Amino acid sequence: MTRLPVFPKQSLRRRVMVLVTTVILAMSFLDLVAAHWSLQQSLYKYSRHNQTDQTSDWAQMMGVLYDEFGSWNAVRQHLASESSLHIDGQKLSQLEAVVVPNNGGVIRTQSHAKRKPDWQSAPILFQNTKVGTFYMHPYISPQVRTLKRRITYGFDTAQFLVVFIISIVAFLFVVVLVRSFLRPLEDLAATAISMTAGAFDAPLPTGGDVEIQNVINAFAVTRNRLQEAQETRKRILADIHHELRTPLNVIGNRLEAIHLGLYQWDKQTATILHEETERIQTIVDELDELNEVQAGVQKLDLAWVSVEDWLTKLVTLFEAEATRRSVNINVHIEDKSLCILMDKNRMSQVIINLISNALRYTPPGKRIIVTVRNAVHGVVFTVEDEGIGIDSSHLPFIFERLYRIEPSRSRDKEGAGLGLAIVKEVVDAHAGEVTVRSLPGKGTRFTILIPPQNSLS
Ligand SMILES: Nc1ncnc2c1ncn2[C@@H]1O[C@H](COP(=O)(O)OP(=O)(O)OP(=O)(O)O)[C@@H](O)[C@H]1O
Ligand SMILES: [Mg+2]
Repeated sequence: MTRLPVFPKQSLRRRVMVLVTTVILAMSFLDLVAAHWSLQQSLYKYSRHNQTDQTSDWAQMMGVLYDEFGSWNAVRQHLASESSLHIDGQKLSQLEAVVVPNNGGVIRTQSHAKRKPDWQSAPILFQNTKVGTFYMHPYISPQVRTLKRRITYGFDTAQFLVVFIISIVAFLFVVVLVRSFLRPLEDLAATAISMTAGAFDAPLPTGGDVEIQNVINAFAVTRNRLQEAQETRKRILADIHHELRTPLNVIGNRLEAIHLGLYQWDKQTATILHEETERIQTIVDELDELNEVQAGVQKLDLAWVSVEDWLTKLVTLFEAEATRRSVNINVHIEDKSLCILMDKNRMSQVIINLISNALRYTPPGKRIIVTVRNAVHGVVFTVEDEGIGIDSSHLPFIFERLYRIEPSRSRDKEGAGLGLAIVKEVVDAHAGEVTVRSLPGKGTRFTILIPPQNSLS
């Protein structure tokens, strides 16, 4: 046995069904009333027409009698004595009617007959002259009355049945239609619920109308973002765990060995412990920095900065390190008067991160070139090195938090993998763009574009 659908309160389906049912009932009721009224009008017009014909026939008969008897008095006497006068089986003596002669007086067919406003009338003519008026009570024969009743009953019943069947069919049709409309949404809800339990790969409902498809597509985009975010979070947690574990292990093992008397507390041990705690501090500082930048654009402390002054000072910070590594840093500033509206500290961090990377991955004897030029689409910074380069398989990920290409690279190159994530966040906050091109073994070039509204020359 098929069960009727249950519509919970406040459900869209329930509301649609209530609405449709109300509309169907109202329409059915209106249709029944209108059809009944229209039939009654037709029957009424028909019987009025019929009565008018009867009245004219009787008026004509009176004209014939007047012609035959010569005066209304003679006609009156004839009518009093003659009770079988009839037209089409309708006897005059059964009619409630009066004759009003032009010369005065009234001839009644029944003694109590008294003219009323709704009575019908027809002129009585003799030799084309009106000699009186015939009035009669609208008469409907019992046969016509019965016929009217039967027609009305039959018509109303047929109408009711048709309306009832159409309503049921319409209702069922709407139930099926609403179901098919809402099924993709219900499937989508099920998918969303399964997603909260971590199932990101449940198939998305297909079909449905454009509006529903739009909702499903929007959901798909959100789901992908959530999935990416969840995966990134997992990876970040794993990476943080990994990054912190190494220095913590070193510190823990050293301290335990000292505690067990295996090591003496000396200067070298102090240096190692200090370096490892610094490493932890750097990771924590960079995470802080990244969180701060991600907190929003409004936190930018914007000011006009002369590019030449700023960049030259920044690069001198690396002089000692570059000399130690026998790497040359060249700076080319095309337009010396160029000024940029930017957050100086954060943009300094960007350049520092890029030059530190370049230094870290460039072998002795090679060059690092920093350039600035004013282009139509904005100010373009490049930091280019002749270092080991980055394999193209890694390029799409290097701006992600904690993404590092190590451990295949040597330990002295270790960082936390946060520098480029900070670069991207800061450049994004300035409505700019950062891109990278690299050839393994040849070198890497980072390009930063700051939009023209942020520059002045
Ligand atoms: N100029 C470069 N040449 C070669 N590889 C690079 C260069 N810049 C970045 N990389 C690679 O990209 C990865 C991500 O760089 P990023 O600056 O984000 O992290 P990091 O330098 O390892 O650590 P951190 O900057 O947090 O100290 C690096 O681990 C490195 O492998
Ligand atoms: Mg770095």
